[in-house]
Amino acid sequence: MSYHSVQHIKLTDLANQFGTPLYVYDANKIIEKIAILRDSFKNVHLKIKYACKANTNLAILKLMRKHGVEIDVVSPEELHLALKAGYAGEQITFTPSGVAFEEIALAAEAGARINLDNLDVLEKFGQKYGNTKGALIRIKPHVFGGGNEKIMTAHPESKFGISIHQKAEILAIVEKYNMKIIGLHQHTGSDVKNADAFTQAASAILDLAFSFKDLEIIDLGGGFKVAYKDGDIITDMQEVGEVLSNAFLDFSQKYGRELQLWFEPGKFLVSEAGTFLTTANTVKHDPIKTFVCVNSGLNHLGRPMMYGSYHDIFNASNEDESVQEEYRVVGYICETDTFSWSVDGKQGERRMNQVRAGDIIAMKNAGAYCYSMASQYNSRVRPAEVLVLDGQAHLIRQRETLEDILRNTIDIDL
Ligand code: LLP
Repeated sequence: MSYHSVQHIKLTDLANQFGTPLYVYDANKIIEKIAILRDSFKNVHLKIKYACKANTNLAILKLMRKHGVEIDVVSPEELHLALKAGYAGEQITFTPSGVAFEEIALAAEAGARINLDNLDVLEKFGQKYGNTKGALIRIKPHVFGGGNEKIMTAHPESKFGISIHQKAEILAIVEKYNMKIIGLHQHTGSDVKNADAFTQAASAILDLAFSFKDLEIIDLGGGFKVAYKDGDIITDMQEVGEVLSNAFLDFSQKYGRELQLWFEPGKFLVSEAGTFLTTANTVKHDPIKTFVCVNSGLNHLGRPMMYGSYHDIFNASNEDESVQEEYRVVGYICETDTFSWSVDGKQGERRMNQVRAGDIIAMKNAGAYCYSMASQYNSRVRPAEVLVLDGQAHLIRQRETLEDILRNTIDIDL
């Protein structure tokens, strides 16, 4: 895989214009992914709720809204960003995990749909709102699905949701407060490649749904797996769309009316739209391997070091494929921060067109959980972000400065 431009703009031109490190997002790619998802579920009443934790840039949120995508948030701050992007309360779903009830009440007062993920908050919601406000319940269906253990959320030991085996407790609380449960929710995990995990989770939720009489929504979360490199197994959207739509329509018929089917994808919508541009500070020829040291690190793109995840890496400054070398691509952080992980989840090397100091080193799949998980570790500022829409590049976040690092510091002499 080697892409040297976003739409028709060369990555090296973007690097020159905006500097590096730089996140670049292809808005048209996001729009394309929205269309694919809609097409896969064209036979049902679908609502897409973008899991904005993947990328919370306001311009991305507004782009989603413009294209009819609603939003899933997990914190009061994300709720605020969603409102700022122009979403109405009822277009926002609040799916937090283990938060204080005050946060849930705040989101409910803002009109958001709430996913209640433990029996305590279910009880408190019932006490406070009775049947005056509807809510969804997040169920843990005891299903295994997801790219790695850290991003699996529906298995028996996961902290997320109320175990499907606690159905009796759930129903007792709902009855006690005469609650209006408008939806059931589950989220399997992230990078889920096998359609089976989705169908198992869906069938568990749909079975349970018959115990609730006021349902309007079945929310099956996110987790669709995208390609990180050529030949990667991805979620087959046509297959998942067909299987889940059929199960859902069948359920609706038995339930007695057609509900809305919600999904909350993050990666599926934005991962492939992002490219991260860095500059090679130096090429270090060690006796054992050759390192390319770039002007970034796990502070900006932490996924490889956190999950061993594979991001395609290439030299955007050199299209000559006749001279290639094996490089270990590393960052400037003062601890090991390798970007180039191997397919089997180890720190490794990548074969790339020859790298010279100053070359632009690009990393793919940088649209999801990259900027949103970036930090100021080593007191480094966070990168700038650019959105390319219809061939035009727009700066959507400027690079931080030293002032941002000092912003909340209280400079006292003790
Ligand atoms: N819905 C819920 C309730 C979630 O917790 C998540 C992700 C999503 C939807 C969206 O999942 P997606 O479609 O993006 O896979 N930082 C990790 C991923 C963590 C996902 C957290 N929850 C990574 O970079 O792989």
